[in-house]
Amino acid sequence: MGGKVFIHAFGCQMNKLDAELALSALRRAGYEEAATPDEADVVLYNTCSVRAHAEERVYSNVGKLKSLKRRKPGLIIGILGCMAQKDGGKIFERLPHVDLVCGTREFPRIAELIEEARRADRVLACSEDAAVSEAREISVRPDRRRAFLGIMRGCDNYCAYCVVPYVRGPEISRPVEEVVDEAKRLADDGCREITLLGQNVNSYGRSFTPPAAALAGLLARLDRIAGLARVRFVTSHPKDMSREILEAVRDLPTVCEHLHMPAQSGSDRVLAAMNRRYTARGYRDLVALARELVPGIAIASDFIVGFPGETEAEFDETAALVRDLRFQNSFVFKYSTRPGTAAAKLADDVPWEEKRRRNLALLEIQSAIHLEENRKFIGQEVEVLVEGPSLRDASRLTGRLRTNQIAVFEGPETLAGELVRVRVESATPLTLAGRPTPTGDLRPAAGG
Ligand code: 5AD
Ligand code: SF4
Repeated sequence: MGGKVFIHAFGCQMNKLDAELALSALRRAGYEEAATPDEADVVLYNTCSVRAHAEERVYSNVGKLKSLKRRKPGLIIGILGCMAQKDGGKIFERLPHVDLVCGTREFPRIAELIEEARRADRVLACSEDAAVSEAREISVRPDRRRAFLGIMRGCDNYCAYCVVPYVRGPEISRPVEEVVDEAKRLADDGCREITLLGQNVNSYGRSFTPPAAALAGLLARLDRIAGLARVRFVTSHPKDMSREILEAVRDLPTVCEHLHMPAQSGSDRVLAAMNRRYTARGYRDLVALARELVPGIAIASDFIVGFPGETEAEFDETAALVRDLRFQNSFVFKYSTRPGTAAAKLADDVPWEEKRRRNLALLEIQSAIHLEENRKFIGQEVEVLVEGPSLRDASRLTGRLRTNQIAVFEGPETLAGELVRVRVESATPLTLAGRPTPTGDLRPAAGG
C-alpha cells in the first residue's frame, strides 16, 4: 500500500472538495501527495462533464501521460468523478493507458480500488447506488484558513441542458448535526471561513423526512461556532431562494453578503425551455428583494448563450438583464449538448460563431459593470480576511472582502488568517488595492 499520489480536479468547487476527500482517504491509507505527475506512483484526475470542452481538456491531459506510463509501467492512472460516471468503460477505449475509472460515489473506496488496479488489469467502479460517505480528515486541506464543506450532493432539478442529475444522482442533504460537527472541527483546526457547497444549496433539507427548508436554520447554528469568522454558501437556485435565507444573510454576523444565483437567461421562453421554473420578472424581483433586505449584497450569476432555438431578440433580453441587474460577476458559457439530457433532443441550431459573439457581448457588458462597481469601493473601509502574500507581489498581502472581491495591501505576513480593515485606494476589474486603517487589526473582535 501507499506511494506518492498526484491528484488534480477539473471543474466546480464540489470537484475540488471531492479531490480533497479522496486525498484524505489516501493519506489515511499511507499515501503522500506528489506535486507533479512525474513524481507520482498514482495520478488521479477528478473530472467534469458539464460541458464538452471540460471533457476535451481531460482527454488531452490524460493523453499526455502516455509517455510517462511507458517510462514507468507501474504507474496507475485513474479517472474519477463525473466523466467516469457518465462514460464508464468507454474511457478505456479512448484512453487505453488508464487503469482505473471511478464514479462519483466510489470515492471512499479509492485506496482499495487503486490496490485492485495494481493487481488487475483494469478496474471500473461506477455503481449508481453506493452511498457517498463524507468521512473527512480535517487536517487534510490545501488552505489552513478557508475550507469547503459539502452539505448536500446530487440534484433533482433536471434543468434541460444539465448533466449533473445524471452523473451525481438524486439530491441528498447531510444531517444538520454532521455538518455542524464538521464545521466545529474545522474551526478548532484554525479555519476562519467555510464555504458550504451543494448543487442547489438553498434547498438544503428537502431530502429530509419530513422535508425541511433548513438552510437558514443551519446558518444560524454555524453562526455560533467559536473561531469561525465567515460562512458562504453556493450555488443557489432562484426558484428555491426564500426571504428566510436572505434574512439570515442580513442578521447573522458570520454569513457573508454574497450569493451565487445563476439566472441562465433573461428570456421567459428560454427559461421555460430550460426547465428553470422562474421567469425573468421573478428573478428581477428576487434580486430586488435581496438588495432591499441586504444592502450591498454581491450577486453573481451564470448564463448560457446559444441554448437551442435562442433568437437574437431572446439573447437581447438576457443582455438587458445583465445590464439592469449589475451583477458582481457573470460566468458566461456557450451552450454545449450533453448526451442524455432533455435539451439533447433539440437541435443545437445556434451556430458556434454566433454563440461566441453572444458570449463576448455579455462579457463586455459585465466587465464594464464590474469595474464601475469596484470603483465605488474607493475611499471606503472594508473588512478583509487575509490569505497571505500576494502571488504577483510577495511584498503585499492578499485576501477577500465579505462580498468576495480580492483585495491587496501592505502588511506583515503574520496577519494571515486575521480580519483586517482596509481603506480602498484604487480598483481594477480584478482587485481592490488599499492600506490597512490604523485600527486595522480586528483580532479581538474575531471569533464569536
Ligand atoms: N452547456 C453550457 N453551459 C452549461 N452549464 C451547465 N450545463 C451546460 C451546458 N450543457 C453551465 C450553467 C451552470 C454552470 C455551472 O455551467 O450556466 O450554472
Ligand atoms: Fe444542473 Fe440545474 Fe441541478 Fe444546477 S440546478 S446542477 S444547472 S440540473
